[in-house]
Amino acid sequence: MTHPTDLISVSYDELTANLSKGKIVERRLSEIRDSFLNPDLIDKMPTDEDPIVYRVTAVEPSNGTGDLHYGLGIIYPGKVGPEYFLTKGHLHQARETAEVYIGLSGEGYMLLENEKTLETRMEPLGKGQIVYVPGHTAHRTVNTGDKPLTYFGVYPANAGHDYGAIGKRNFLKVIVEENGKPTLKDR
Ligand code: F6R
Ligand code: ZN
Repeated sequence: MTHPTDLISVSYDELTANLSKGKIVERRLSEIRDSFLNPDLIDKMPTDEDPIVYRVTAVEPSNGTGDLHYGLGIIYPGKVGPEYFLTKGHLHQARETAEVYIGLSGEGYMLLENEKTLETRMEPLGKGQIVYVPGHTAHRTVNTGDKPLTYFGVYPANAGHDYGAIGKRNFLKVIVEENGKPTLKDR
């Protein structure tokens, strides 16, 4: 398998998660309202704006067996009620595929939910932290700080994204601010 040489080397900025190449996906609050515990609170927010909650730039150099894709993400600081800004979250279409996340700047957590046991973990993801997401694990990233959270994630090229399974019922647990601290609670 030949690889396009223009994607062999890419530069990035750890504070903005901007990449010199890649496919950009931006999610605004209105698009992901059902990911939140209380979407009704969005309608009551004092602004008419529809802020960008997060942006991901994905680099997909090749799609052969053994190839890897990766992305850089930025989640802006913010909350809907007590719940921090977050990503939609997904399982991989190829359920057995894992992923490695590396925190680049800011403060946050990953919510990991095993689809078989439904066991949930809240793992820190900020600068200097690495999270291994095993296969069969729904994953969502949450910015619990007051600055953007940026991160890198690398996954097998065949992983794919399945938003449907988790979108229907959402994650079983939420990360909300309680007594000034990020806290894991039942939905
Ligand atoms: C890829 C991956 C990340 C996410 C990104 C945005 O497998 O896990 O690059 O795609 O954090 O989250 P979602 O895809 O859930 O909107
Ligand atoms: Zn993933």
